[in-house]
Amino acid sequence: MSMRAAVLRQPGTPLTIEEVDLAPPRSGEILVRIEASGICHSDYHYMTGDITCPLPVVLGHEGAGIIEELGPDTAGTLAVGDRVALMWRPRCGRCIPCITGNPVLCQSGPRQAATGGLLDGTSRLSRGDEQLHHFLGVSCFAERVVVSETSVVRVPDGVRPEIAAIAGCAVITGVGAVLNAIGECAGESILVLGAGGVGLSSVMGARLAGANPIVVVDVDPEKLELATRLGATHTIDAGAGDTVEQLLALLPDGVTWAVEAIGRPATLQQAFDCLAPAGTLVAVGLGRVGETFAIPVNALVQRQKRVIGSLYGSANPLVDLPKIFGLYLAGRLPLDELIGTTYPLERVNEAYDALASGSVGRAVVIP
Ligand code: APR
Ligand code: ZN
Ligand code: ZN
Repeated sequence: MSMRAAVLRQPGTPLTIEEVDLAPPRSGEILVRIEASGICHSDYHYMTGDITCPLPVVLGHEGAGIIEELGPDTAGTLAVGDRVALMWRPRCGRCIPCITGNPVLCQSGPRQAATGGLLDGTSRLSRGDEQLHHFLGVSCFAERVVVSETSVVRVPDGVRPEIAAIAGCAVITGVGAVLNAIGECAGESILVLGAGGVGLSSVMGARLAGANPIVVVDVDPEKLELATRLGATHTIDAGAGDTVEQLLALLPDGVTWAVEAIGRPATLQQAFDCLAPAGTLVAVGLGRVGETFAIPVNALVQRQKRVIGSLYGSANPLVDLPKIFGLYLAGRLPLDELIGTTYPLERVNEAYDALASGSVGRAVVIP
């Protein structure tokens, strides 16, 4: 079928809204009509060329919609009409990470990302003779997607599409960094660097886990206000002075936990320097390919600091996304507060300009 989609042809150029062909779902795949798609910073890394993928590509990886068609040989757990959130990591259920409970590290994920196809390596997206690529098996800046049935989670009634969409990336990433990568932290101090969709989700996770104090750093005072509404007990305006000095003025011993949701060497360094002895830095933000940051050897050893990475909230999305929806419906994760401006698909570039210039809240595209 023919549909509109936002295509990245060259890094550094705007996405183009094109009429593209979507082939029907094959074995184990489903067709989903997209209702909402979040404006995540990760697509922006590919738009700028910080990270690369096979081109041309239909971007978008944080989406939700309604199943319109099941391909052959699906497992029987999904039905036409089901509302689903999309996940940008599939799970094969057979590799070591899958069977040891780390499905976000499933070996089929990086393979799918590298080929720009679905799980069998082929694409359902084309334009005339030209093959277009999928983005992380999702490509939801489009009216419809064909995805693996292992790339979706059912969404309960009462969760609107915008919420379901952002739950599948920003929310599970940020909340999971606290609930999964950190775990128990009631009464312990936590620093969250970055108050975008991911960082604010970590703030909500920290409140849920009972962390205290919860300190949030950003360069944008308006985002810090939102962080306070979501649970920050203290905020630091990184534009108003040195982040580490400001944090140590608040908490002279440093913090037990730090979540870096920006993805820059300078802020990772700051987060490391803010750690108390035996404190842990959880790196969440993606950087440019090959980017590094320096860790002072003696501070690492003598203060027994730890640095760990967390991808996709270190989650088991089949378990954790339903939990997130349940907490939202129970009023314990105020995800509505996260939603910012909504845009039609035609204005997706404008949404990314707004992200780059610091708009507050998670923008969402409604195709
Ligand atoms: N100091 C403090 N805050 C900063 C700084 C800085 N030097 N530089 C940027 N920020 C803030 C921005 O103002 C913004 O609020 O970091 C935040 C980043 O948020 P978004 O751009 O909305 O990004 P988000 O989608 O939340 O993702 C964050 O996680 O998954 C990754 O690829 C993603 O690297 C990105 C990160
Ligand atoms: Zn994302
Ligand atoms: Zn696997």
